[in-house]
Order: sequence, then C-alpha cells, then structure tokens
Amino acid sequence: MFAILKTKVSTILNSSKKDTDEKLKEICDLLQESVPYYDWVGFYFKNGDKKELKLGPYAGAPTDHTIIPFGKGICGQVAESNENFVVPDVAAQDNYIACSVTVKAEIVVPLFVNGKNIGQIDIDSNTPNPFSEEDERFLEYVNEKVSQIL
Ligand code: SME
Repeated sequence: MFAILKTKVSTILNSSKKDTDEKLKEICDLLQESVPYYDWVGFYFKNGDKKELKLGPYAGAPTDHTIIPFGKGICGQVAESNENFVVPDVAAQDNYIACSVTVKAEIVVPLFVNGKNIGQIDIDSNTPNPFSEEDERFLEYVNEKVSQIL
C-alpha cells in the first residue's frame, strides 16, 4: 500500500499547476482516503517567529486546535523534541490535546527543511494501536518530499 502511495505523493508534488497548499491538501485527502486507519491527516507549521504551531492543510473533521503552543500536546512536544512521536493509546498520555472523542491513537512526524524542524504531519486514528515502523518510514518519506517544495 505505501509503495503505491509514495508514487502518488510524488506525482502530486511534481505537478506544476497547483500551489503548495493545494498540493498539501491533496496529500492529506489521499492519505486519509487510502489508509483505513488514518482518520484525520493534517500539517502543522511553525507560526512565523512565534513558539507555536499553526494548522495548515488537513483532511477530516475541523479542529478547534488551529494554534498549538510549543510543548503542549503531542504536536507541541514534537516541535521541541524533533523526533517522531507514536502514541498507541491517547488515553495513556498526560500531555495530550483531544480533538475528537473518537480518537484512540496518534502519530506525529516532524518536517525538516535544511535541518530545521519547521512543522509536522499529524495523523489521528480511531483504531487503537494501529501504527508501525512502516507508518513512520512512510510519513518520513512524505515529509522529505514535501520539504523539497517549501
Ligand atoms: N492531538 C493533538 C492535537 C491536534 S489534533 O489531533 C488535530 C495533540 O495532542 O497535540
């Protein structure tokens, strides 16, 4: 599944007709529709010089959390740690921001441009413990490709 998705992600990013936000939205839609346990897919980016994340393109239910301070929630922690954060059970996390009561698990993978952590891809799942290292490698690939057009 991920091999085909990688090709599709590259095709979206190589398209000359769309702007960056359109491409990112298309990637969110593709991932959310293609991976059964990806229920919400979105990009957060550092908000200018502020120590906070701002929601970018996403697919899934609208969220109130369009701004997340560094350090807060899973997303805010990844903004500071620069490392993937895989959460098999969100109920077991103290520093977690709930977007929807249906969410059981989350994965956040940082996005680097020239070695700087400038954002992340965030996936929520309604399935408990669905993520493996395959998801991590795939999402690292997606971010690597996206970083080339930012
Ligand atoms: N759950 C995230 C907040 C973002 S929503 O999942 C869209 C967190 O704890 O940072």
